[in-house]
Amino acid sequence: MQTFGLIGNPVGHSLSPVMHQAAYSHLHMDANYITLEPDISDLKKIITGAPQNGISGLNVTIPFKQDVLSYVKPNKLAKRIGAINTIDFSEKTPIGYNTDVAGSRRSFEHYGVNLSGKNSVVIGAGGAGRAMAFMLSDEGSNVSIVNRTESKSRSLSASVPNSASYGLSDLAELIQDADILVNTTSVGMGADISLVPATSLHSDLVVMDAVYRPLETRLIRDAKASGALTIDGVWMLLYQGAESFEIWTGKDAPVEIMNEAVRSQL
Ligand code: ATR
Repeated sequence: MQTFGLIGNPVGHSLSPVMHQAAYSHLHMDANYITLEPDISDLKKIITGAPQNGISGLNVTIPFKQDVLSYVKPNKLAKRIGAINTIDFSEKTPIGYNTDVAGSRRSFEHYGVNLSGKNSVVIGAGGAGRAMAFMLSDEGSNVSIVNRTESKSRSLSASVPNSASYGLSDLAELIQDADILVNTTSVGMGADISLVPATSLHSDLVVMDAVYRPLETRLIRDAKASGALTIDGVWMLLYQGAESFEIWTGKDAPVEIMNEAVRSQL
């Protein structure tokens, strides 16, 4: 039996266990996916002791994505993003990955959206915002990074090629000339609110929201009403999980099965 899991705090409402277990069942794998919710003071002990405790791989979520950089070796991409969301313990030296990058790329690919040469607006400069901004820039997009705290968007923009930083008050104007709009903040989670003025949305936009509770956030609803193509938050969750699964097992993730499992809970 192989054990994988998610470490974060809180993790009680995570859909990752359902998503990964569905993949194991479908592929008849003898594997289990657990959740760990330690205090920060126990993080080092749990990470460094994971292999001895029979853990083959861990996903890492809020608030530990940066802290674990001290305990495992990040690969090149995770180092560049400055955050780890996946650890593989199969080698002698555990390796940290950031699958949010490929997860966001695969979400756009799923909808056949070409990112090259596009004007993209990313709202948020936290872990998810960083991964999204680097991915869009690597794919050839011009990236406008918009954040409530402008010092954070400025410092992120300094390390992302072809990007510029803005404050929330610039959003409506930026969206006029944008092709892609992504919300990576938690705004809209469990509340019918959005940082994006509905009147600024238009039918030439592709709008992605990383929030998946509710599935149809205020932003997604407003975007649909404007005629934009919308990509809900489950896709990002799904594809980052699929990438982790593939790193750990070497098998193609059964994404349709995992997608159904997640959506059945929402
Ligand atoms: P994650 O790793 O999921 O990106 P995070 O690192 O806590 O989470 O980042 C949260 C992001 O959401 C930040 O960009 C944050 O803006 P600040 O840098 O100004 O804190 C943004 N955010 C959270 N709540 C917000 C709110 N009510 N209004 C605007 N932005 C908000």
